Amino acid sequence: MDIKVEDLKVLFTEKQIQAKIKEIAKELNAFYKGEDVYAICVLKGAVMFATDLVKSLDMPLKMEFIRLSSYGTAFSSTGKVNAVDISLPDLNDKNVLIIEDIIDTGLTAKFLIDFMHCNFKTKSTKFCSLLDKKVCRKTDIEPDYYGFHIDDKFVVGYGLDYEGYYRNLRYIGYVEAK
Ligand code: IMP
Ligand code: MG
Repeated sequence: MDIKVEDLKVLFTEKQIQAKIKEIAKELNAFYKGEDVYAICVLKGAVMFATDLVKSLDMPLKMEFIRLSSYGTAFSSTGKVNAVDISLPDLNDKNVLIIEDIIDTGLTAKFLIDFMHCNFKTKSTKFCSLLDKKVCRKTDIEPDYYGFHIDDKFVVGYGLDYEGYYRNLRYIGYVEAK
């Protein structure tokens, strides 16, 4: 591990993250108006965000977990989405809320949205990402809900990792790209 915790600069504090999650939850509660929702957490990165977000959602809700990978061990996207485990129940006629940690190139988001369209006729499909790294986009995908826009920084913490480490930080930090 060649990134040291003392080299990390804080981008969003725990307090900022938790306050933002409350805001997003308020929007989602208003949108779904008590309708049933399937919340789909995209592992591993979205684990912290998804579990905190659902605690502030007030509609009847089921959680599903799928696992994708697009990052290798590098700082930049491999451009290839690998569906490690994408087994899901029947989502026809359901409200589907996909929960991600970050949209970078948008390839993962595009893969998931295409996957939903190909396999199910959902009642609604919404995409919610804590972070939106807009400048790196290679697709026309935009999240329906997002927490923060960030510029081209490699971020870690609160689910986001560097070579598997730092997911357990309560804040989101960044390191300067090499
Ligand atoms: P995309 O397919 O390029 O949009 O990348 C999405 C995935 O790459 C996210 O779900 C993250 O797991 C990972 N990722 C993108 N940017 C970062 C970052 O700055 N730090 C850690 N992981 C990242
Ligand atoms: Mg991810």
